[in-house]
Amino acid sequence: MIGIFDSGIGGLTVVRELLRQVPDASFVYLGDTARTPYGNKSRETIIRYALEDAAFLVTHGATSLVIACNTLSAVAVSALREAYPQLVILDVITPAVEDALSVTRGAVGVIGTRATIGSGIYQVLLNDVVAKISEVSDKAQDVSVVTRRVSHNVRVLTQACPLFVPLVEEGWTKQVETMRIVRRYLSPLRRAQIDTLILGCTHYPMLKTQIAHAVGTRVCLVDSAESVVTRLISAGGVGTNGVQRYFFTDTSAHSVLIAQRWLHRKILPELAMLPVSL
Ligand code: DGL
Repeated sequence: MIGIFDSGIGGLTVVRELLRQVPDASFVYLGDTARTPYGNKSRETIIRYALEDAAFLVTHGATSLVIACNTLSAVAVSALREAYPQLVILDVITPAVEDALSVTRGAVGVIGTRATIGSGIYQVLLNDVVAKISEVSDKAQDVSVVTRRVSHNVRVLTQACPLFVPLVEEGWTKQVETMRIVRRYLSPLRRAQIDTLILGCTHYPMLKTQIAHAVGTRVCLVDSAESVVTRLISAGGVGTNGVQRYFFTDTSAHSVLIAQRWLHRKILPELAMLPVSL
C-alpha cells in the first residue's frame, strides 16, 4: 500500500488527483496538521519530522512512499531513502521539473515555501536535466520529447510565498485579501515574462485559479501533484483494494472540513500520534 504524506492538508491535492485517475486506489495518508507548516522550519527539524512521518506510515502498512510535499522532497529525500532503502520513494520535485521542461520555451518560474526555494533544488534539477538533455542531443540523434522543447538555456526565477500555506490551511482561498497577496508575490515573475510556472508546493493547487489570474493566463502551470501521480500510475505502483485511510496529527473540525471540501467526499479522520515507538 502507498503511504502519502505532507505537513498538513496540502498532500490531499495528490490524493485528489490519484482518486480522479484511480477511484479505488488504496493508500494511507498522513497530514501532520499539528505541526504544519514545515516550510519555515530548519532543515534539522524538517528531516526529523520526515523520518517520524515515514515511520508512522510504515508501521501502518505502507510499502512505498509518496512525499506529497515539496518542502520534505527538497530537504529530506536523501534521509528518507537512506532510512528506507527497501522502499520505493517518490518525491514531487523530479516529476514537476521534467514536466516543466517538456513545455517551457525558456523561462521557468518556481514558487514554493521558504525552505523549498532556499534549498535551491529546483535550479539544480532544472539545470541538471537540461545539461543531460544537451549531452544526449549533442552525442546522438536520440531526441526525446523534452529535448524538442528545451533550448540549452533555461532561465529559472524563484519566489518563496510563505503566506500561501497558512491561507490554504485556513480555507482562505477566495478572499480579496488572498488575491492581493497572490498578486504581490507573483508580480516579479509576471514582469520577468516567465512562460511556465511550477507550483512547487502541494498546497498551491488549491489557489490555482488565483495564481493563473495573477501570473497571466498564457503561462503554463505545472502542478507537482499531477506530475507525481502520473509517474506513480505509470510505474504500476497503485494497489486497488480500496483501503483509504486518512491520518492527521490534529483532527480539528476545521481542517477536516477543508479536507472534505477539497476532496469532494466525506472522510473518516484518524488521529496519528507521533513519534511512533518502534
Ligand atoms: N505542502 C507543503 C509543500 O509542498 C507545504 C509545506 C509547509 O508545510 O510549509 O511544500
